Amino acid sequence: MGGLARRATVARGDEPTSAVEVGQCLTPRTASNRASTQLREKDRVILRALGRMGWTAALPGPEEDDLALQASAGARTAKMEGAAPALLSGRGSRVDEVARPGYPPLRVGLIWLAADVFESEDLRGWLRAEIERTPADTWILLTHLPASSLRALLGAVPSIRIVVTSHPGVPTAAPERVGSAWIAHAGRKGQFLGRFEFTWPASPSGNTMPATFRDTSEALHLRRLRREYEAALAQADQTIAAPIDPAERYRLGVERERIQKSLSGLPEAVPAAPGEATVTSELIPLDRRVAEEPEVRRMVQDYIAGIERMNAALTEEDLRRDWLTEQGRTAADFASAPKYRGPASCKGCHPAEHARWSETRHAGAFKALEATHQTMDLECIGCHTIGHREWGGYFAPREAVKFANVSCETCHGPAGDHPEGGKYAAKEIAVETCLKCHTADIQPAFDFAGSLQRATCQGK
Ligand code: HEC
Ligand code: HEC
Ligand code: HEC
Ligand code: HEC
Repeated sequence: MGGLARRATVARGDEPTSAVEVGQCLTPRTASNRASTQLREKDRVILRALGRMGWTAALPGPEEDDLALQASAGARTAKMEGAAPALLSGRGSRVDEVARPGYPPLRVGLIWLAADVFESEDLRGWLRAEIERTPADTWILLTHLPASSLRALLGAVPSIRIVVTSHPGVPTAAPERVGSAWIAHAGRKGQFLGRFEFTWPASPSGNTMPATFRDTSEALHLRRLRREYEAALAQADQTIAAPIDPAERYRLGVERERIQKSLSGLPEAVPAAPGEATVTSELIPLDRRVAEEPEVRRMVQDYIAGIERMNAALTEEDLRRDWLTEQGRTAADFASAPKYRGPASCKGCHPAEHARWSETRHAGAFKALEATHQTMDLECIGCHTIGHREWGGYFAPREAVKFANVSCETCHGPAGDHPEGGKYAAKEIAVETCLKCHTADIQPAFDFAGSLQRATCQGK
């Protein structure tokens, strides 16, 4: 959610048509139980923050519980203080006018296709009718249509010139071109902000989008690099001029030469000709270099501060019952499954393993949540404790403290009555055991052998 406050710094939807694609940001369909109270609250914060940024319309992704959203969108939006974007559902369109003094207003058409209408019979016919119904200077399509269907559709409906979509994987900065349309891929989950800008000369006679645009993304990138190198050079010169250690001065001199060489090697950015229509796209990483916008940051902090209060009320019995219902299993099944016992119950008989494990970072995983008061956060405890929402484990966030840390049974499986002398059905430790938490999002190149070495209970 730090990404949200950073996004607020970079992106303000100041234009009348400000629509945002919120795929993978809101509560997924599977979180249909009581435990989703927290996630619904998070949705509310996200939408309210987007509203504050000036976005007026939001399209949920295919993973989101769009039916529930549809049913409650009106009510939820109305309840929020401050303007939240209207949640777009199904399919629809609207045209907004952007006033431009001295020229006719620019009519921007927004058309959306939510996930649940992909199978619908005649999308082309519907799109064409929609576009003919209201005149607009340009049309923007917001959709998650699979890539192949999207391309086929664009071929058949040439009036659509801009598409905003998202597909899994790391997005590329370069916009994709299909016929006369440009496709901008949104990044995943607040890691990037894609900026995609069109300019074309104003004309008193009309606003029709030109057929060709010069792509100035590369030029923008080169100008940025040049500025960065120049700043680095100035910084190096300043440090070298100060009284410093001769060895350090020598190192900086070499570094300075390297930067100077990169700078001289940069190709010149070719600027657009005056009056030329341009398209520029860039991916802005929402990392620590981007400051968090204070207002949104406060909203996120208030939300986090409220999690403990919200989740302390959830009971083990209710949540377990919901989970068993989802699995189609009974309370008796749960009672007979081997239980998670925690590392304290192993220490007496396996002191060496316990001592070794205590030195690994796994042993401090729960502490990591304490600093930010997130020990009851449903979005964290699954990976920072043992047995959350698992056979023999626990369900209620208030129980998390009893299952604190990533410990023995994360790797060996629930011990059941083994500490009392029972046979341990210890599971084989394969890379899959780790990937449940060391996901590609967190560690894109997880090194199993090396990591196991650093985390195991064996050895020195
Ligand atoms: C009362 C002493 C005792 C306690 C307590 C105990 N163990 Fe053991 N453990 C043993 C003995 C003895 C063996 C070797 C015989 C066996 O495989 O049962 C063993 C074997 C194991 C093995 C190897 C199993 C295999 O398949 O080779 C693992 C893993 C293990 N214990 C983990 C744990 C964990 C985790 C805990 C705490 C939840 C724990 N033990 C608690 C006595 C204990
Ligand atoms: C999908 C599993 C997963 C979830 C969910 C998760 N974490 Fe983690 N977390 C990890 C892993 C794996 C690491 C260690 C990765 C590394 O060191 O690069 C980690 C590391 C951390 C660290 C230590 C970072 C450091 O450099 O010391 C903190 C703090 C943390 N997580 C907090 C949280 C909070 C707060 C949440 C909930 C908002 C959360 N985590 C949710 C898996 C997860
Ligand atoms: C990060 C994963 C991991 C964690 C956490 C972990 N172990 Fe292990 N453990 C291993 C691996 C790997 C082995 C080597 C044998 C194997 O592959 O099963 C092992 C082996 C063992 C064995 C069997 C030793 C033998 O001689 O056969 C015992 C007993 C054991 N662990 C106990 C524990 C206890 C007790 C804890 C917690 C205090 C713990 N382990 C935590 C990964 C782990
Ligand atoms: C239940 C979730 C979970 C599982 C499963 C898990 N880890 Fe971790 N791991 C974490 C968390 C959380 C941290 C960060 C703890 C912290 O620093 O506070 C972490 C940290 C680590 C670290 C320290 C960071 C680093 O990269 O040096 C290593 C090594 C590691 N895990 C290895 C493993 C291995 C190997 C496995 C599989 C055998 C595994 N983990 C399984 C949650 C998990």
